[in-house]
Amino acid sequence: MEKIKLAIGSDHAGFRLKEHLKTYLENKTSLTDIGCFDENSVNYPEIAKKVAKKVASGECEKGIIICGSGLGVCITANKTKGIRAVTCSEPISAKLSRSHNDANILTLGERLIGQKMAEEIVDIWLSTPFEGGRHQTRVDMIEE
Ligand code: RB5
Repeated sequence: MEKIKLAIGSDHAGFRLKEHLKTYLENKTSLTDIGCFDENSVNYPEIAKKVAKKVASGECEKGIIICGSGLGVCITANKTKGIRAVTCSEPISAKLSRSHNDANILTLGERLIGQKMAEEIVDIWLSTPFEGGRHQTRVDMIEE
C-alpha cells in the first residue's frame, strides 16, 4: 500500500513532540519535515503557513503541526484556502474531525498532551476516512 504523504512541522515549543512523532511515523508515512530543526525560538505562524501550503497545493495529502498548545498553528493554518485544521487533545475529536469534517491538518499541543496520547490521536486521525454524503455538503459550504 502506498504511504500517505504527510507534511509535519512545529515551533520550538512543539519540537520534541515533532521529533518523537517523526520516529513513530517513519515507516507508516512518507514525511516532509518543514521545521523547525532545533529548540531555538521561532514564530509559529511561519511554520504553520508552510505546512498549510504543502497541503493546499496537493504536494502533501495531510499535515501535522505542533506548538505549545496546538492553537496558534491551527488558527494560522485555517487562513489558507482549502485547509481544515483542527486541534485535538483526545481521540474522539480526532476521529470526528476526519469522519465529519474531512480535516486535512491536525494540530497538537506538546505542553498539553503526552507522547502516548499524541500517538493515539495521530493513529486514529490518519486511519479514519471521511464519511462524505451529508458531511460533504457541509464541507463544501465551508469552502464557499
Ligand atoms: C510559544 O511560547 C507558544 O505561544 C506557541 O507554541 C503556541 O502555543 C501558540 O499558540
